[in-house]
Amino acid sequence: ATVLTVSPAQLGFPAIAKNRDDVVTVPEGYKVTVLYRMGDPILAGVAAFANNGTDTNFAGRAGDHHDGMAYFGLNAGGTRDDLSSVRGLLVMNHENITDQYLHTSGPTSAGGVRPEAEAIKEIEAHGVSVVEVVQTGGAWTYVQGSAFNRRVTPNTPTTLRGPVRGDALVKTAYSTDGTAGRGTVNNCANGYSAWGTYLTCEENWAGYFRRAAGDNAARTAKEVTALGRYGLSAGAGGAGNWASVTAANAADQSLFSKWNLTVTAADATGDYRNEANQYGWVVEIDPYNPAATPRKRTALGRMGHEGAWPAPFVAGRKPVFYMGDDSRGEYFYKFVSATAWSEADATATDRLAIGDKYLDNGTLYVARFDATGQGVWLPLTFGTGPLTAANAAYAFASQADVLVNARLAADALGATKMDRPEWAAVNPANGEVYLTLTNNNASLRPLNGTNAANPRHYNDPKGAANQFGNPNGHIIRLHEAGDTPEATSFQWDIYAFGAGSDLDAAINVSGLTADNDFSSPDGLWFSRASSPAGKVNPLLWIQTDDGAFTDVTNNQMLAAMPGKVGDGGAKTITNTGAGGATATQATFVGKAPGLQLRRFLVGPKECEITGIDSTPDGRTLFVNIQHPGEAGTAAAPSSNWPASQSGAAAGSRPRSATIVVTKNDGGVVAL
Ligand code: FEO
Ligand code: CA
Ligand code: CA
Ligand code: CA
Repeated sequence: ATVLTVSPAQLGFPAIAKNRDDVVTVPEGYKVTVLYRMGDPILAGVAAFANNGTDTNFAGRAGDHHDGMAYFGLNAGGTRDDLSSVRGLLVMNHENITDQYLHTSGPTSAGGVRPEAEAIKEIEAHGVSVVEVVQTGGAWTYVQGSAFNRRVTPNTPTTLRGPVRGDALVKTAYSTDGTAGRGTVNNCANGYSAWGTYLTCEENWAGYFRRAAGDNAARTAKEVTALGRYGLSAGAGGAGNWASVTAANAADQSLFSKWNLTVTAADATGDYRNEANQYGWVVEIDPYNPAATPRKRTALGRMGHEGAWPAPFVAGRKPVFYMGDDSRGEYFYKFVSATAWSEADATATDRLAIGDKYLDNGTLYVARFDATGQGVWLPLTFGTGPLTAANAAYAFASQADVLVNARLAADALGATKMDRPEWAAVNPANGEVYLTLTNNNASLRPLNGTNAANPRHYNDPKGAANQFGNPNGHIIRLHEAGDTPEATSFQWDIYAFGAGSDLDAAINVSGLTADNDFSSPDGLWFSRASSPAGKVNPLLWIQTDDGAFTDVTNNQMLAAMPGKVGDGGAKTITNTGAGGATATQATFVGKAPGLQLRRFLVGPKECEITGIDSTPDGRTLFVNIQHPGEAGTAAAPSSNWPASQSGAAAGSRPRSATIVVTKNDGGVVAL
């Protein structure tokens, strides 16, 4: 890795105060503009958004719940230009929906038989957007009708690639040879490639599927184990109950029937018992080619994918992607390509074929964090260690079986159960990998169930009663052995622990102050290496998605100048559980106090802050505001953002949206 030798820079903004206002707050000297809101029309001819529940055609509009996002530059001639900071494509995930605002007066017959028109709207509001954005006269706008604009939804055809392609586990009524699927859903965080593609990651896909209570009887014991490990227990309801729809046109019926995995529910459209195996993947999209079919990269494993963040691409070295599996007690993974990076591929125009070269063959690893401060990457390779047919808990049949059931493989390998692994980010200066561990509860992180890498159990008195566990989360970081992301071992420490600044030092281990206290870190991103902020002690950005601190502040974003792994040292934490019982846990803590960390942004009511990128010059920051007003109703919205950002907005329904943050003097944001 390249270690930059520059003098320490200072964060160039004053910390802002925590607040619960219904606007986005940024430091003095900075400006917020709203760029791209849920429902905004992107295809030509789609009507302006009325925002009263009557709107249709979400396949031609911005989806809901903006999440992970990346900016891809375009030059004046409309072709790819990685250094353009005035014209580009924003590609972003639409993770989920706030369904009460999508319909005139909330969803009809929730949990019962759903009207087809409502289900179509809900389905199409999920997925991914590609939308052209331009800066003219200092102001950013999106371009309705751009030839690049595109929605990828849960109905869009996809291709399965990698070792699982064609396997019996992914054969469905739609793809009897197991090579194709339809759609992507619950797209959370993201990644990107050096060859100009976007990676979208399928997280809580399991929640959309229905399985009747008696379905286990029609399944093999092995299938029942696999379904249960991914949250698809018999009796699962299926968010939105889309499978209940009777389509007016029989040709559309399978788009709804596919959400029911129940073997005995097979209808005239066929049998969808394996449909859930089509989801849980990292999906590659070519933003520059709206006709290109997205490719599901099965070599990267099937899980509740949060993101897939690359290590820097270095000629002659194998590309590496870091991936959290976001559920309580799940694991941290990385994928190491089988093929060394060739710079000539960076500018090829058949971008998804380049993806085939680097993403269809390689080794998936899962992390074990040891109490020594060292860690090991364990390979999920069929036929090695416990990953054989002889394994007692689950008899692995093939590499495809290992990848479809990566969680079971990681269990067998003895990986470390983490406090909900969310985003990973890589410091461009030294290659160190940061991972948010957003929080955990008392049942999965009990007083006597901590480990060195997930060392806290306590009660946060700010939250709801009995928020024992690790309710405020932490950020762990790794330094790969030999300074190479291809390494099979690493050193680790904990960069920062979330906590209210008023909490006891035994809980507020990082010594957070009123200027930087936070809870439930989720989004994580380093300044682009091309920007001045990415060259001078790269800035680390932290976004929160919290329920334990929202009595004090809306969700927020902070910026930091990180140190490096090992700059703190060993420490023993005293944990206190219910009834005052205590236990000690040894761990490794990054340098604290003296953490260079400051609050930069606070969002509107009931939102989470998730998704961030900048232009290559670092002067425009794009940030996503997800689900403002999520606790309100159509009749009584609990937030009026983004209308509230520019004044009177009484009664206006809230919308997820992308904002632009710029510095009034045109400078690099945060420096
Ligand atoms: Fe979609 Fe784990 O956040
Ligand atoms: Ca979310
Ligand atoms: Ca997240
Ligand atoms: Ca989260």
